[in-house]
Amino acid sequence: MTNQSLAKANNLEAFWMPFTANKAFKADPRLISRAQGMYYYTNEGREVLDSASGLWCCNAGHAHPKIVEAIRAKAGEVDYVPHFQMGHPESFALAARIANMLPGSLDHVFFTNSGSEACDTALKIAIAYHRMNGEGTRTRLIGRERGYHGTGFGGISVGGMPNNRKFFGSLLPGTDHLPHTHNIEQNAYSRGQPAWGAHLADELENLVALHDASTIAAVIVEPIAGSTGVLIPPQGYLERIREICTRHGILMILDEVVTAFGRLGAGSASERLGVEPDLMCMAKGLTSGSVPMGAVGVQKYIYDCFINNTESGVELFHGYTYSGHPLAAAAGLAALEVYQEGGLFERAREMESYFEEAMHSLKGEKHVIDVRNLGMMAGVELAPREGAPLKRAYEVFLNAYERGVFLRLNGEIFAIAPPLITDKSHIDQIVDVLRQSLKAID
Ligand SMILES: Cc1ncc(COP(=O)(O)O)c(C=O)c1O
Repeated sequence: MTNQSLAKANNLEAFWMPFTANKAFKADPRLISRAQGMYYYTNEGREVLDSASGLWCCNAGHAHPKIVEAIRAKAGEVDYVPHFQMGHPESFALAARIANMLPGSLDHVFFTNSGSEACDTALKIAIAYHRMNGEGTRTRLIGRERGYHGTGFGGISVGGMPNNRKFFGSLLPGTDHLPHTHNIEQNAYSRGQPAWGAHLADELENLVALHDASTIAAVIVEPIAGSTGVLIPPQGYLERIREICTRHGILMILDEVVTAFGRLGAGSASERLGVEPDLMCMAKGLTSGSVPMGAVGVQKYIYDCFINNTESGVELFHGYTYSGHPLAAAAGLAALEVYQEGGLFERAREMESYFEEAMHSLKGEKHVIDVRNLGMMAGVELAPREGAPLKRAYEVFLNAYERGVFLRLNGEIFAIAPPLITDKSHIDQIVDVLRQSLKAID
């Protein structure tokens, strides 16, 4: 290496970090060199409890030995197989396992490499389905304010996070948005699904009246909005969206990138909440975060429409070089086995009431204006500091990190979602540290 390239290798400048305040991070970096079970280990060897399953993905805990072994073995056996006109047995096996886990007739699985790609794939399948089905005018896509569907152009167009949209031009044409459901005046400190807000689903009827059903392909919502701060659906809300979609021939896409694979103590939020979508986006917990992979669950009638209406040749002109990558498929199969053998979804369900009590014990702490939860997900919302929005929560985040707990921060909201292997002492530690940090910060 030349002196110049060594100097480059030794600094943090080259990596333009995603969704990160690069200047602040690089001035005071938090580097993690190892992860095991519930913990991260910093470069200096300090143990940091992970309260967020990484980014809602490491549901089996970090570096689960079975998943590690499956990846290791597969890497030595087959590095890559294209899935364009070729196949690898384990990606078929994984698709079957996922389909088996999903409710109703979500019998088919399309593989992607991320949640963003899963969302864009689901949106594209929805539009293409209507065209295949003789309704090519249905191209409009409806999302929701405060929705997050990744960072592809499809995802940000239906998403409802202003900063994720405003820098990126005119986005997809023909999108519209439902109102979000978050209302602290009505629903503060709700445990489980809040009582107020099902009527907000009726806004979909207004959008149908405005645009006409014949122009609308799909509605996409997260069952629980994760990235905008754990917004739990009001009782009856998702059911009403489902009814309206069915009534008007609009496909319902549930973005379960966060909620599938045990986060709510079931294979999916759809199963837990009893609302079956036409298409379901998944990622994250699919491989327990170990290898990038996303997927779209597809109803049998949609898949059949493509297969039956294509004389011969390719039925869907869409896919990725790494769709169903052997390493990801091996990691996914191992993760599903770990979930099943360890009874981790059931364990999450059992832990839910302890988690709920612990999180709600933060009510009354300085700055806290709401706590909400469902499954192993909770949001703790802080009042912004006057004249300095986001500063207080960021200081609490830094303070907690120094005390040995990694918290996931979304604006003024902490999203707590520990790995499903968590036990009561970990939950106590998260809450104790958050409490101390709240007390320490003005
Ligand atoms: C609901 C939801 N959809 C999509 C995504 C995007 O996933 P990825 O970052 O893997 O592209 C995320 C990521 O957090 C998410 O929470």
